[in-house]
Amino acid sequence: MRQRRVRAAGIAAAVVALVAGGVSVLPALAAAGPTLAQVATARGFSIGTAAGVKTLASSQWRYVADTQFNSVTMGNEGKWDATEPAQGQFDFAAADFIADYARTTGKRLRGHTLVWHSQLPAWVSADRTAAEQRQVLLDHVTGVAGHFKNKVAQWDVVNEPFNEDGTFRSSVWYQRLGEDYIADALTAARAADPAAKLYINDYNVEGVNAKSTGLYNLVQRLQARGVPIDGVGLQAHLIVGQVPSTLRQNIERFTALGLKVEITELDVRIPLPADASELTQQAADYRAVVGACAAVAGCTGVTTWGVGEADSWVPAFFPGYGAALLFDEQWRARPAYSAVVEALGGTPSVPEPPATPSLVTVASWPFEAGLAGWGSRGSEVTAASTAAAHGGTGSVLSSGRTATWQGPTRPVLDLLTPGKLYTVSAWARTASGSGTARLSMQRQNGTATRYENVSANTAISTTWTRLSGDYLFLPGATALSVYLETTDTTGDLYLDDVTIQTEGTPTSGSASASASVSVSPSASRSPSASVSPSASRSPSRSPSVSPSSSASSGGTGCAVHYAKNDWGGGFAGDVTVTNTGSAAVNGWTLRWTFAGNQQVSQAWSTVLTQSGAAVTAVNAAWNGTIPAGASANFGFLASYTGGNTDPSAFTLNGTACTLR
Ligand code: XIL
Repeated sequence: MRQRRVRAAGIAAAVVALVAGGVSVLPALAAAGPTLAQVATARGFSIGTAAGVKTLASSQWRYVADTQFNSVTMGNEGKWDATEPAQGQFDFAAADFIADYARTTGKRLRGHTLVWHSQLPAWVSADRTAAEQRQVLLDHVTGVAGHFKNKVAQWDVVNEPFNEDGTFRSSVWYQRLGEDYIADALTAARAADPAAKLYINDYNVEGVNAKSTGLYNLVQRLQARGVPIDGVGLQAHLIVGQVPSTLRQNIERFTALGLKVEITELDVRIPLPADASELTQQAADYRAVVGACAAVAGCTGVTTWGVGEADSWVPAFFPGYGAALLFDEQWRARPAYSAVVEALGGTPSVPEPPATPSLVTVASWPFEAGLAGWGSRGSEVTAASTAAAHGGTGSVLSSGRTATWQGPTRPVLDLLTPGKLYTVSAWARTASGSGTARLSMQRQNGTATRYENVSANTAISTTWTRLSGDYLFLPGATALSVYLETTDTTGDLYLDDVTIQTEGTPTSGSASASASVSVSPSASRSPSASVSPSASRSPSRSPSVSPSSSASSGGTGCAVHYAKNDWGGGFAGDVTVTNTGSAAVNGWTLRWTFAGNQQVSQAWSTVLTQSGAAVTAVNAAWNGTIPAGASANFGFLASYTGGNTDPSAFTLNGTACTLR
């Protein structure tokens, strides 16, 4: 992200701009200041955001998160309803996606959350004995923490165990197991992942009050019994102007117990519409919270509960409130952004917002000439029809339905890229009467089948009904089909004008082909923080050309643009690989050999391994497909002594590439 310099100097002593090369015309280099992540990393502090699979699929979200945060927390994907929806049946597809993102972008990962009273599937609270309930808890903690062993830096093992008066919340856990459920969960988590730091997390425990004192007393009891507990998480879902004055004092009483403290879910909500004075107050509030944490040695990081308005939970959960995070509806930094940078001792430079992505059509079925791969689901008959049409003269008619789930379907596995977000749309109509039409995806993952609804609406016989919704295609599927059904009727059903669209190359914005990396070795406290791992560019923002405009050379082929930003002894590399062949590349491995003793320490948008001078860069989960004529982009940080000559040869999946 290119940063607009607000003030000179400070930490930005060695600020440099890195050009992402490739096939597009390069913009002029902009002087850039450090990002929030760079300021935080330089002082060994974690600045995080909650991440979700849908937010991760947005190139704009990624662009901001990649550059501004060095830590991510599982938003909803690590919760019980997501990870163990049925007893003993664990599903980590969504949470793994977040863990992969953290790994490939070099961010710390916070696990959230193992034991909570909310977002629990119904089976967890079914009638059973205390011993059985305890086993349910232990199996879950062991299964989930075990799955993420060595990947999660911190787990919110127990979430929100307290009432406002400091007594225990009467959850299914406390009711059936008493206070000991907390010790049991912590002990099981430690056994499952000894490297993860274990936290108890709650809200309204930021200041010194009855609730935080309940937490304080609990952790002392746990410590006295030798139960593993490493820290407390203060969620900090705050209202503008209401930062508790005892925040720092409260943090200090916990660190005095030898515990770490994290601010885990910070947001500062404002009654809408937010005016300038409220945004100024909010900046002061953010400054106070981050400053209080940064001032205490044992307070190790601050996580905001999302990046911008689009991924904030506040508007939906606190009607009338919003504007609670560091970035706004258009991913522009709010005044609070600069306040947080300053609270961490940095010199703010306001980042330019990411470009707006275009929408490209991946597939469309107008049904003007045949079924184009659509067929029957079950015993019904799917056939081309001209009896009704939404557009043109043709549609598809499903007749002879004997069950509600039957209807037209089409395999789409080959059309979709894992990790991408799609908008799937269709028009439906009944032949007579009405029914609840549902447009869904059937996703096969080995032997497990999932039915994921995209859109539902009432379909009638006199006019067409539009069905449209988002679908995030998670990695790991072995089969995928789109289908239409009516969940309450078996009458004949028409389908027309189905489309699948996704984000394409950004169409506007000044940041579309530049990225900045700043380095300030002298400002860092720890050696590993001397270069920032977080200055990455979103993969979908790579300067790719659209397939139609590319001059394909036929067969397979590739071109590599290798750019570096060298500050002497260290450099940031930026690699753009363009598929110059005529077919899409599905999964890529780019290899090169360094000319000197360059050693990579961090990489993003790729899984990079180095053996001696030989480097192997494999696609990340989300950028494995490179359509003909398009590009993938990734970056890395490396150190060297002596010379830093560029590699002279690259291979893509074994084929030699030309250099650009
Ligand atoms: C919220 C999520 O942001 C929402 O998307 C979800 O619908 C409800 O939960 N405390 C927590 C978080 O520990 O897990 C909650 O997250 C917000 C309050």
